[in-house]
Amino acid sequence: MTETSEIIRSGACRIYIPRDSAALALGADRLARAVASEAARRGIAVDIVRNGSRGLFWLEPLVEVQTPSGRIGYSNVQASQVSAMFDSGWPACATQDGERPMPATDPDGSWQAGMPACVGRVDAIPYLAKQQRLTFARIGVTDPLDPVDYEAHGGLAGLRACLALDAEAACQTVLDSGLRGRGGAAFPAGIKWRTVSRAEARQKYVVCNADEGDSGTFADRLIMESDPFVLIEGVVIAALSVGATEGIVYVRSEYPHAIAALEAAIDVARREGWLGPDVLGSGRCCELRVAKAAGAYICGEETALLESLEGKRGVVRAKPPIPALSGLFGQPTLINNVITLASVPFIFAHGAQTYREFGMGRSQGTLPVQLAGNIRRGGLVELAFGVTLRTLLDEFGGGTASGRPAKAIQVGGPLGAYLPPAQWDLPMDYEAYAAVGAVVGHGGVVVHDDTADMAGLARYAMAFCALESCGKCTPCRIGSTRGVEVIERIQRGDTSSRQVRLLHDLCETMVSGSLCAMGGMTPFPVRSALEHFPADFGLPAGAGRCEAA
Ligand SMILES: Cc1cc2nc3c(=O)[nH]c(=O)nc-3n(C[C@H](O)[C@H](O)[C@H](O)COP(=O)(O)O)c2cc1C
Ligand code: SF4
Repeated sequence: MTETSEIIRSGACRIYIPRDSAALALGADRLARAVASEAARRGIAVDIVRNGSRGLFWLEPLVEVQTPSGRIGYSNVQASQVSAMFDSGWPACATQDGERPMPATDPDGSWQAGMPACVGRVDAIPYLAKQQRLTFARIGVTDPLDPVDYEAHGGLAGLRACLALDAEAACQTVLDSGLRGRGGAAFPAGIKWRTVSRAEARQKYVVCNADEGDSGTFADRLIMESDPFVLIEGVVIAALSVGATEGIVYVRSEYPHAIAALEAAIDVARREGWLGPDVLGSGRCCELRVAKAAGAYICGEETALLESLEGKRGVVRAKPPIPALSGLFGQPTLINNVITLASVPFIFAHGAQTYREFGMGRSQGTLPVQLAGNIRRGGLVELAFGVTLRTLLDEFGGGTASGRPAKAIQVGGPLGAYLPPAQWDLPMDYEAYAAVGAVVGHGGVVVHDDTADMAGLARYAMAFCALESCGKCTPCRIGSTRGVEVIERIQRGDTSSRQVRLLHDLCETMVSGSLCAMGGMTPFPVRSALEHFPADFGLPAGAGRCEAA
């Protein structure tokens, strides 16, 4: 029986109101209560489903009404508008509303004076329709905590496929898919899985890195709040493939709703037999728990994360040994980002080759780009690797929120380079970005308009490193503080080549002498700002380049 025929039979109108942090921050709980009480007062049968967000944040709270011709959306709905909406025949009128022609240029157009905008069929909104959602296929579509809904939308097919494989074949599947770590370093996931799988130990662990500290990023949060089962399924597949019996998701402490959603989903999964001593009746065991992170950016670095999980201060460990051989409590540990693990159920369900058909070069599959900063339509855009920043900014983002020309885009979090307009046609691909001194990282894209002060942003990068450094090595601990001082001298007007050379030397020392990427990558935003935007430092064109200093 389809969802629609079920509704028609029961007579209740199904209304979806999101429950993720973005919608909650904009009053979604109050709205859900208003819809429930207004419907009850009028004797209208409604079935309210608290889904997750579709990741089209400028439309939140986005309320959807199930109709025979699909789900019809209403954007930015406020509790105070609910009574008037019911007065005008809502929600029964949704089909008719959805058939109204949408303004050609803008899906945010008004429905009726004083009413929220009807955005028509949600899956036809160009921002969504143009995406290639593999990992995020279910977000906003299903009830995040309903196991029946999960299975009805393809859930568990990957885990079932994995249970039919031995460990070597399972790791080979991940290797063949071309999946690389989505946490930042882009290391081939299959190689890591095979290393842990082949390690001899009585106890192994899977640790999911959900610390998500990069500026402008929210893909991990969206998965945990909108489709937590896909992450659970990914962790179980990983655990069975590498021979681990315990998984831990280390979640950013600033994500209370994600923690609550994940914990509730773990309880459901255990009840359903997807977790526990007998995964899907296979006789194989996988336990899973959530650990609340320590609230420091460096705790996202995998070895500092392990220290934190062991109850110690988050200080980076020297490698070797690599965590895959000696990780949590000295045991072989598979550490992967949320998106890496959440991508795995699709790969097992549809085959490595299908996943590989997306992307380019050695960047296979899809990347959930997170559009943030000064952007009109911020949100999640999952597309195959190869998309350009210009497409993301113009076609998806709709330009800057301020309406001013965009000036610089920082990709890959606070340690990522600032890309000038001349680089916005580069395909998003790990190697193409590395060739220009940039990184794709976790897919965070933060837009700045022409009022941005790039010298100030370069100073901020050094100050951020000074604040967040774990302090273990000198180039990072001391270098970042000296970096702030040099940039401040340049900002005060000492634009001599001596200062510029000093800044480059300092950057070089940090890149080559730091123990981890915190100190090693802080120079990326600094050098790119200096090279591409010399005027903001009071320098003539070309004078910010390393060779010119
Ligand atoms: C300073 C710093 C912060 C990091 N923060 C995160 C983070 O928040 N989330 C994450 O998944 N990886 C983060 N990483 C990368 C991890 O160290 C590690 O490479 C990753 O968790 C491995 O998973 P993956 O192979 O699936 O990407 C960070 C690295 C550094 C150097
Ligand atoms: S680079 Fe910075 S954060 Fe990394 S180990 Fe050294 S001091 Fe710690």
